[in-house]
Amino acid sequence: MNELSLTPTDFEQVRHLAQSSCGIHLTEGKRAMVSSRLERLVRRHGFRSFGEYISFLSVRRHGAEFTEFVDTLTTNHSGFWREPEHFLFLQRNVFPSHRSRIRIWSAACATGEEPHTIAMCALDAGLVNCNITATDISRGALNAAVTGEYDATKLTGLPVGWPERWFQRAKNGPDSLRAVAPSVRALISFQPINLLESFLHLGQFDVIFCRNVMIYFEQETRDQLVERLADRLVEGGYLFTGHSETLLRLPRTLDYVQSATYRKRR
Ligand SMILES: C[S@@+](CC[C@H](N)C(=O)[O-])C[C@H]1O[C@@H](n2cnc3c(N)ncnc32)[C@H](O)[C@@H]1O
Repeated sequence: MNELSLTPTDFEQVRHLAQSSCGIHLTEGKRAMVSSRLERLVRRHGFRSFGEYISFLSVRRHGAEFTEFVDTLTTNHSGFWREPEHFLFLQRNVFPSHRSRIRIWSAACATGEEPHTIAMCALDAGLVNCNITATDISRGALNAAVTGEYDATKLTGLPVGWPERWFQRAKNGPDSLRAVAPSVRALISFQPINLLESFLHLGQFDVIFCRNVMIYFEQETRDQLVERLADRLVEGGYLFTGHSETLLRLPRTLDYVQSATYRKRR
C-alpha cells in the first residue's frame, strides 16, 4: 500500500475546513490524530492523496462525504448523569415551577446520554409534558442516540435503581446491551443541527444544555454562540455549559447563577 502523507498545506486546509464548517479549532497537537483518522477515509474513497480528498470536500460541503469528515473529526464522548449538578438543579430548582409544560434543548447531544438523562429526571419528577429537542452535527452520533442502546457498564453512574427502571434488555446483541425504555424515548426528538448555522426554527426553550462542545471552539465563536443561545431562552430560562467552559464574556441578557449555570434576565 502506498504511503500517504499529510503535508503542512494539507493540514492547514483541513483546519480551515473544520473551523469554517463546524467551528472546530484543530491545534497543531491534533495533527497526528487528524492524519490517522482521515487516512482511512482517503483510502476508502480511493483518493490518491490528502490534497485530492480535501479539494473534493471543499466544493461538496453538504454531501455524505462531508458529513463523514465532520464525524471523523468530532469527539462524541458523553455519559449518563455526567456533571450531575445540572440534573440536581433541574430537579430542585426548575421542575417544581414547570409542572404544566417545559421545553428543553440538548444542543450537541452526542450519542444521547445527556437527553436521555434529562428525560429520566423529568419522568422521575412526574413531569409528563416535557419536550426535549436533542441535536448534534454528527450523523453517526445521532444514529446511535436514536437507537438508544448502551452497554450496561455505561449505566453504573446513574442513581440507584434507575438502570432497572429506565432500561430493558436489548432485543438483539450481547447480553450486556440495554435499551432505553420507550417512555423515556417518547419525550425526545432528535435532529441534526450545526451550531454555527441558524437554529431559530427550533423556537424557544426553558432550559438549554450546551455542554462540552464549546471547548472545541475559539473564543469569538463561543461568544457568538452564547449570544444566539441566550436569544433562544425564554425570560427566566437557564443555560447550562460544561464545567470546564467558563463564559468569559457574558451577554447582557444572562446572569451567572452558579458554576456553569446562567439565567436569562426577566
Ligand atoms: C464531547 S461531546 C458532548 C456531549 C454532551 N453534551 C456531554 O456533555 O456529554 C461534543 C459533541 O459536539 C458535537 N459538535 C461539534 N461541533 C459541533 C457543531 N458545530 N454543531 C453541533 N454539534 C457539534 C460533536 O459532534 C460531539 O457529539
